[in-house]
Amino acid sequence: MPKAVVPGSFDPMTLGHLDVVTRAAALFDDVVVAVLVNESKQALFSVEERLDMARRSMGCVPNVTVTAFSGLLVDFCAQQRAGAIVKGLRAASDLEFELQMAHMNAHLSGVQTVLLPTNPALSFVSSSLTKEVARFGGDVSGFVSPYVLDRLQRRLAETSEGQAR
Ligand code: PNS
Repeated sequence: MPKAVVPGSFDPMTLGHLDVVTRAAALFDDVVVAVLVNESKQALFSVEERLDMARRSMGCVPNVTVTAFSGLLVDFCAQQRAGAIVKGLRAASDLEFELQMAHMNAHLSGVQTVLLPTNPALSFVSSSLTKEVARFGGDVSGFVSPYVLDRLQRRLAETSEGQAR
């Protein structure tokens, strides 16, 4: 299959994300990790920082590129000539919203969505929980790459409340 987009906020990229992207890269010739630019949503990391962390995390996978997008995901897919969207499915609770988005995106443009069950060992890992645990001094070294861990700890130390940029 030619090309797929793996979209997300990636604030920051976790090992769960990395697992999904790596498996997508084994299924598709080309994979574009698409980092959402969403000015209305507070993020801990800027888009440039999220791109940098995603690129470093994905460095060793040759058919993966990382880029930012804004606006509708289906428009980005069309621009990239990607026929599929790949999302990770952590638990049954993810399914309802993922199905809703998959149907909406298929309705808007005909793009197909492939839902990949995440590695069960990482099924409870999310960017938001990782940030919350780290903010209160918990050990998140099993949830993110060493580079992201360092960036996360430094960002949280810089801003006592972990304020967004
Ligand atoms: O990592 P997230 O925040 O769960 O990712 C959500 C994302 C980026 C996949 C979703 O918000 C999205 O596709 N946003 C782009 C705007 C859009 O196309 N919205 C309609 C979705 S049906």
